[in-house]
Amino acid sequence: MVIPARSFREAPGVVELQGITKEYPGRALSFRGTKLELKGPLLWARNLTHAFRMKAEDTPSVTAIRGMDLHIGQGEIFGLLGPNGSGKTTLIKIIAGLLKPTHGEGTVAGIPLGETRAIRQRVSYVSTTGWMGLEWALTAEENIRFYGQLCGLSRKLAAVRTDEALRMVDLWDERKKHPSALSNGMRQRVILARGLVLATPIVLLDEPSVGLDPVTRDRVLETVCHTLASRGQTLILADHDAEWVERAADRVAILDRGRVRGVGTPRELLQNVSHLRVLDLLIQASFTARTAPPSVIRRWEANERPGPQGFTHWRGLVEESPEALAMVLNWVCPNIRQVVEVSFRAPSLQDVMGLLGEEYPHDE
Ligand SMILES: Nc1ncnc2c1ncn2[C@@H]1O[C@H](COP(=O)(O)OP(=O)(O)OP(=O)(O)O)[C@@H](O)[C@H]1O
Ligand SMILES: [Mg+2]
Repeated sequence: MVIPARSFREAPGVVELQGITKEYPGRALSFRGTKLELKGPLLWARNLTHAFRMKAEDTPSVTAIRGMDLHIGQGEIFGLLGPNGSGKTTLIKIIAGLLKPTHGEGTVAGIPLGETRAIRQRVSYVSTTGWMGLEWALTAEENIRFYGQLCGLSRKLAAVRTDEALRMVDLWDERKKHPSALSNGMRQRVILARGLVLATPIVLLDEPSVGLDPVTRDRVLETVCHTLASRGQTLILADHDAEWVERAADRVAILDRGRVRGVGTPRELLQNVSHLRVLDLLIQASFTARTAPPSVIRRWEANERPGPQGFTHWRGLVEESPEALAMVLNWVCPNIRQVVEVSFRAPSLQDVMGLLGEEYPHDE
């Protein structure tokens, strides 16, 4: 979805973070309180091992977010992209008032980060990756309505908002079914609908696309994005599906190891790689890099396709130049008769993520 001509950078921020750091403390190796302290008979041996694994693991502390500054404007659809462990969920939990940062300051909907209880009343947090328990004795509709009432909506308002949310996530026909009779993707949509029923100023979605087929993902999530944007709600979403985030978000932050490596509209972020092209080659041969790649290749990967015919798919990010194709072909597969397919395309945000540390240099 593209919502043009909206500028959020000058608008007052609904989320303002300055120098946010989040460190998860490590757990020191300690046998105190575990069965390892006991000097019992050999009979204890199995329990001992178990206790050791469970309790005495020596884990170092992890800095999940490192000095992050972020400004998210009211009504913005803001995407967080980044590889596993880059800090997306931690950041979302800080904005949701579920975690306090170790250092730094900021506000969410004008409330200082430390006032987590007040923040929680202004955000809806939907995580589709963890288990956000549905009541199995209730139907999809009842689950959503029950949640709304539990969070303080009147009976009437909860009913109206539940109907709205069910339609938004395209579950109207399934509303009378119990979770046990719903598919995984449908259950996930009930959880999503439950997060929409409160109509809070900020909605946080952690990996909403997981488990949804691409058609449902586009239809449901676009409806959700459009509806929230038209109501002036701010939507912050973290997802691995860079292609979808590129289409859905007004602005995107690319996270890597707890830092923001790039932030801007998808178009702005892609400008950093406008001099590159993604080159796909299908060759009927195996591939081994015997010499260093030509300098026009920024990064590459080769995957042999299973099967008797011995195809290899080679993909590279290549500098755009008149000689590039010839140079790459000469390196990858000098025997041109073995080249089955060649295709060039502009890079996507997914490719930008693959370039972390190059166009978006690391500072460690
Ligand atoms: N409760 C925790 N205790 C200790 N370390 C944690 C905890 N939660 C997350 N981490 C660590 O913090 C870092 C960031 O994790 P986070 O879950 O925020 O990443 P993410 O970008 O959401 O990853 P993914 O794409 O896999 O969901 C990781 O190194 C992770 O191991
Ligand atoms: Mg996560």
